[in-house]
Amino acid sequence: MAGEGSRRWKRVLVGVLSVVLLLCGAGVALGTWAWTGTVVDTTGKVDFVNRLAVPPLAESRIDAQGRRVFDLRAQTGERDLGQGGRTRTWGYNGDYLGPTLRAKRGEEVLVNVVNGLDRPTSVHWHGMHLPAVMDGGPHQMVRPGATWSPHWTVNQPAATLWYHPHPHGETEEHVYRGLAGMFILDDEPASALALPRRYGVDDIPVIVQDRGFDSNGQFDDGHSLLGGVGILGDTLLVNGTVGPYLDVTTERIRLRLLNGSNARSYDFGFADGRGFALIGTDGGLLASPHQTGRIRLSPGERAEIVVTMRPAERVVLRSFPPNVGDDLFGRFSGGDDSFDVLELRAAGSLAPAPEVPSRLVPIDRLDPATAATTRRFQLSDRKINGKAMDPERIDFAVTRDTTEIWEITKQDGTPHSLHVHDVQFQVLSVDGREPPPELRGWKDTVLVTLNRPIQIIARFADYADPNIPYMFHCHLLYHEDQGMMGQFVVVNPGQSPGRPPSHGHHG
Ligand code: C2O
Ligand code: CU
Repeated sequence: MAGEGSRRWKRVLVGVLSVVLLLCGAGVALGTWAWTGTVVDTTGKVDFVNRLAVPPLAESRIDAQGRRVFDLRAQTGERDLGQGGRTRTWGYNGDYLGPTLRAKRGEEVLVNVVNGLDRPTSVHWHGMHLPAVMDGGPHQMVRPGATWSPHWTVNQPAATLWYHPHPHGETEEHVYRGLAGMFILDDEPASALALPRRYGVDDIPVIVQDRGFDSNGQFDDGHSLLGGVGILGDTLLVNGTVGPYLDVTTERIRLRLLNGSNARSYDFGFADGRGFALIGTDGGLLASPHQTGRIRLSPGERAEIVVTMRPAERVVLRSFPPNVGDDLFGRFSGGDDSFDVLELRAAGSLAPAPEVPSRLVPIDRLDPATAATTRRFQLSDRKINGKAMDPERIDFAVTRDTTEIWEITKQDGTPHSLHVHDVQFQVLSVDGREPPPELRGWKDTVLVTLNRPIQIIARFADYADPNIPYMFHCHLLYHEDQGMMGQFVVVNPGQSPGRPPSHGHHG
């Protein structure tokens, strides 16, 4: 009897064990599939068969008040992106992306934004210092068919800025479908430098976006199951061109790199290992060029680089696996991915170009001793300091014309790129150390990695409005939409914060 009992137990044990083994096997297989299948590598596999599209410079006119007036219309369209059919897209004044706006410091600009879509959208001027009511965040929605006409005086250094929608909870979708464009600012000190400056000739916008496609050739907006960063595509579009090449006719060429992707970070460099001069970051030129072989850009960041070319050569701009933090699971955030981005094709003879000047523009360092306050922000679980974005809640007020230090840390398993509206800031320290050269210029967006607190310093000058907030948020658009965003107002000395207009997000 005892023997029969133990035999039964053995059978049960064997049964349980085999189920466990099976599950383990399935788990390992699934894990292996996820671990290996998630890596994207297009290096050496891209056919550069399409001439790089260069967004047209937006036309403008001067109105009776002397303002430079632009027109932008958000609309639907479709474009052949080589996916075996036409892809349904959105764009400004066209099918995909928008024209490049360009204005000089001191000019007053006015943009007529027409919403030709069937749903509300907004247009935010990323990197621009301007009154909150002109900022184009979630409180300045434009209804379908309506026109919104913000205007402001450009009062900041020459820089490569950009514009894109900012509707609360829907930014990921609006940008993914194609709404974005570049906004270039000029000023006299920058124009006096011997740098390539002929738009579309030796000064080229390079808007890099990753997209996925479904079997019908439409944008696939499915999120990867692991990682939690939102959409990571396996195909790159540069200015909306798949497999792009650029004909180079000068010895030196300036690329204005914009990471216009929803969630993906890049580490740009050249396939042949050549170096380049990093001359500018988000908010303007550096004090002096930084010779390097790589520049990492998280979503929303920009870099201006100058590359030297020899006659008749070809070289590929590549993105190497970006260090998105020390996260064990960086791979699921695109940390192990690499891409061929753009092929530069030099003509048989190149027009001479001067060396990059060794001094660019002076940058006055903001002095931490002058800071009115230090604020701490902890990014985790799609919240900031434990709170999800609430359009009705103003998180804090900054006094106009004061300087503040913000310390940003992150503690979860995905990268976050923190963006602050209204200001260009300076990075004081990364993990307690001096920032690296690429973080010593003006910035409005910065990648925050695990256990490496970043201190930034900014002066909130000129504009105050107790009721209309500016945003600060993660620029991984899925995280932003999920609520990793907060709102601050800039108030006059002694003023208290008010309330956002309750109809603000209905426009
Ligand atoms: Cu580029 Cu608040 O965004
Ligand atoms: Cu994030």
